[in-house]
Amino acid sequence: MKRVGLIGWRGMVGSVLMHRMREENDFADIEPVFFSTSQTGQPAPDVGREGILPLQDAFDIETLKTLDVILTCQGGDYTSAVYQKLRDAGWNGYWIDAASTLRMVDHSVIVLDPVNRNVIDAALDEGVKDYIGGNCTVSLMMLALDGLLEQDLIEWVSPMTYQAASGSGAQNMRELLNQMGELNGSVKAELDSPSSAILEIDRKVTDTMRSNEFSTEHFGVPLAGSLIPFIDKQLENGMSKEEWKAGVETNKILGRSDNPIPIDGLCVRIGAMRSHSQALTIKLRKDLPVAEIEKILAAGNDWVKVIPNEREASMHELTPAKVTGTLSIPVGRIRKLAMGPEYISAFTVGDQLLWGAAEPLRRMLRILQS
Ligand code: HSE
Repeated sequence: MKRVGLIGWRGMVGSVLMHRMREENDFADIEPVFFSTSQTGQPAPDVGREGILPLQDAFDIETLKTLDVILTCQGGDYTSAVYQKLRDAGWNGYWIDAASTLRMVDHSVIVLDPVNRNVIDAALDEGVKDYIGGNCTVSLMMLALDGLLEQDLIEWVSPMTYQAASGSGAQNMRELLNQMGELNGSVKAELDSPSSAILEIDRKVTDTMRSNEFSTEHFGVPLAGSLIPFIDKQLENGMSKEEWKAGVETNKILGRSDNPIPIDGLCVRIGAMRSHSQALTIKLRKDLPVAEIEKILAAGNDWVKVIPNEREASMHELTPAKVTGTLSIPVGRIRKLAMGPEYISAFTVGDQLLWGAAEPLRRMLRILQS
């Protein structure tokens, strides 16, 4: 039984991970050791097992060295502070990480096993020890397009994203709700009166959104009632870092960085809570009938679900409201575009904390036990 250190299990991604591990009875098959960066010595969480150590110090290299596997959701600063020190101290265990820090280094693999189990298995055989979760938007897009990717039917993809507040963190989710409340509060009386003028309501809402008192500490600008067309850092070529990740991470996940599929589009934050959506323009390598494309997509993996390109089905099945809190990856709005027979559209939605973050890590831990 592997001795597995869990770090950052109390944060947002960590909590989702813990929930999934309990649900799948994962703790029965490992010897868990829980760590903390601030509460060493406090009792460990109850995971239905006896004899679990109290919380250990997440910065104590000697204790970390006793582990077969480390699974961290603690964030990039922790990875930067601890990973190299631990390797330099001679630790040769498996490092599974939600943070982006080690994603693009040569000695790591980005894990998304329904899509790249072959890449993971080859890396395990070669003795690779670092297995990193991908960017949420990338993982969700790849699960949706799995069938087409597997058959190498995609020439290029342009994803235009509609990303949820959770991608920025827990505080941002709270801020989004506070913004919504402040907007509603500013016109409460008018909304209660059916005869009030909508343009007057709109003017007040806009004034509230633009006022210095509006809660924008975390996003920097209004999100509720608006959107943010730039995610993560600005790169010198005009891309956002989030946009850059789509191409480089997808191709690394597929193990084809030397023969990459061009993937490029704009990433936009919208007022959804925790499910990212993406509108995809895809150029296929050949002209395939829509019914066949749908069949190939539906067979991609156990979680993808093709939604017929119909109004009612799209409105009910292809939304954050429907998908949040589930592992389902619906993909729909599939139709040929006016640009030519190889060009199709698609729209997909996925929970940014489940398949977008926690689930690939949980499954990697399972793979290590098989
Ligand atoms: N970078 C993503 C976002 C979240 O901002 O939505 C984590 O992958």
